[in-house]
Amino acid sequence: MRSLNLFFVAALHFIYARADFSVFTNDDAYDAAEYGLFPIQTYTSTDLVSPRLNILQSSPECDASLFTFLSPRGGAVSDATATILDQSGHLVWTIGGYDQIYNLMVQEYLGEQYLTFWAGNDAVGGHGAGFYYMLDTSYREVRKIPAAGGLAGDLHDLRITEDGTALITVYEVVTADLTELGKSSQGELWDCLIQEINIATGELIFQWRAAEHYRIADTFKDIGDDGGIGRAFDFFHINSVAKDPKGNYLVSSRYMHTLTYISGETGEIIWILGGKKNMFTDLSDGNATDFAYQHDARFADNFTGVSIFNNAVDDPHPYLAPYSRGLHIKLDEEHMTAELVGEYINPNHVRAVSQGSMQVLENGNVFLGYGNAAAFTEYAANGTVLCDAHFGPQIRFGSAEVQSYRAYKYAWHGWPLTDPEVSILTDTSDNWNFYASWNGATEVDAWILQGASDPEAGEDQWEDLEAITKTEFETQFAILELYPKYLRVLAVDKEDIVLGVSSPLDAAEEKIWSLPPLRLEGNDTWALKFLMAFAALTGVIVGSREAWSIWRSRRKGVHWEQVEQTDIRLD
Ligand SMILES: *[C@@H]1O[C@H](CO)[C@@H](O)[C@H](O)[C@H]1NC(C)=O
Ligand SMILES: *[C@@H]1O[C@H](CO)[C@@H](O)[C@H](O)[C@H]1NC(C)=O
Ligand SMILES: *[C@@H]1O[C@H](CO)[C@@H](O)[C@H](O)[C@H]1NC(C)=O
Ligand SMILES: *[C@@H]1O[C@H](CO)[C@@H](O)[C@H](O)[C@H]1NC(C)=O
Repeated sequence: MRSLNLFFVAALHFIYARADFSVFTNDDAYDAAEYGLFPIQTYTSTDLVSPRLNILQSSPECDASLFTFLSPRGGAVSDATATILDQSGHLVWTIGGYDQIYNLMVQEYLGEQYLTFWAGNDAVGGHGAGFYYMLDTSYREVRKIPAAGGLAGDLHDLRITEDGTALITVYEVVTADLTELGKSSQGELWDCLIQEINIATGELIFQWRAAEHYRIADTFKDIGDDGGIGRAFDFFHINSVAKDPKGNYLVSSRYMHTLTYISGETGEIIWILGGKKNMFTDLSDGNATDFAYQHDARFADNFTGVSIFNNAVDDPHPYLAPYSRGLHIKLDEEHMTAELVGEYINPNHVRAVSQGSMQVLENGNVFLGYGNAAAFTEYAANGTVLCDAHFGPQIRFGSAEVQSYRAYKYAWHGWPLTDPEVSILTDTSDNWNFYASWNGATEVDAWILQGASDPEAGEDQWEDLEAITKTEFETQFAILELYPKYLRVLAVDKEDIVLGVSSPLDAAEEKIWSLPPLRLEGNDTWALKFLMAFAALTGVIVGSREAWSIWRSRRKGVHWEQVEQTDIRLD
């Protein structure tokens, strides 16, 4: 029985060691889904998990002290999360438990930085019913913003303005005359609204409805069986909203293939770029106006141009149409001309059948998230690919198993209110280690391992044992024989100021009770899963037997170490 147990402990060590990888680099097996549909990184000091990237290309030109902001979700993602990674792909912060999460951003509200995202039910016909969340730099949820008028907040956009207002997208079912499309004069339509809301008071400041300004028949979406009662037709599909200093709005419509510039005074349309009612002369032979199913329209060039993520494809036309790309379009509103001045094309010609984002960074680089396809890519302004990464296998792009509505980059500084998390475990070579991590603590420069003989020891009795500069999410210290019984870590910043202290761990106790945790990976074979389950069960049985015998021997006044020694027989 004992040897059987040792065998399983060895198997568990093997499994634990497999979880201890960092990112992949240009790994074809990753993109062929040989490591599973959603390769994740697990940790010893915490139950948090994070996507494990396949980094296809990297460059120092991408490192502007910015982090990458994702909201991974999909069929192969067990818990949708908001996740921040550093430039090397290491976890910085992650949170789950919010149903579906979309659109993780850093935004400024009244001079302070916040993390913002949408969370709720995204299974409402291609849009969402939920709320917009704001987390402060300590990761406290400080606001949960609803849409105005009793409507559900849609997942597609939340932009906080300098005036302390929120621009959001909203969907509402309305009755509409659909006879032009061969349907009822009392049909149902998903109307698309912009709302601008005062965040502090909830007051609705501006509202605009697409159905009041667009002819339904100008859509590119086939009505199919939609339009009847309970089958509202999604003719417009708003997916982004922005506002300029003139007080006018810019809206992207996926199914009209248009950007619309709207008067903030009257709500009237000032111009339409793209689609059936395009008002611009295309100086690029159609390349500036023929975008389709596009997302994330933003003002560019000091409000004289726009940037968009041009999906170019939609679900019904997989892999025949052109691939997705970022577009930078220069507009001349006086002469009503549009010119394509920048184009950002993925080296693998990724096609994002939905979602996606384009962000022009302060240094001029362009960052694209491929939405439905688990990829993000950074380009120089001239279109040269600088960095390229996948967080799901390329062979499965289009399957919706791993997606992130958008991917953005920001600077971020966070000071969590939690304590650092710690654990003691053996590594593959059977050496004991102390592990430390701290979700969201961006300012930690180094970890200091301290020891004391008494967990209640005064501050001056904790002795510094080793210091390690933090380079990854989790930091590992080897535990030396001579170390005191109780161990803890301090997290210190660049100025050696202590940011946090972990609770102390009793190294001796931990060694008895911390069997490496079971980690199931996507690519584990059924045989291995069975083995792990069997090992876990055996572990529980053997553990209980052990606990029983320790308890019995303790009652008899025998020290457990003696029991351990006399009991080891490799039969
Ligand atoms: C699972 O993926 C890891 C990825 O590094 C690989 O080393 C391992 O051999 C794979 N396991 C199986 C059972 O395919
Ligand atoms: C438009 O795009 C096509 C395809 O990429 C390209 O061949 C053509 O040169 C472009 N035309 C202009 C005027 O940019
Ligand atoms: C942006 O445009 C405004 C109005 O045309 C102008 O006053 C301002 O100087 C411009 N800013 C920059 C950075 O070019
Ligand atoms: C485009 O940008 C890259 C990266 O900054 C640079 O190496 C390259 O020389 C540029 N190409 C041109 C044609 O300017």
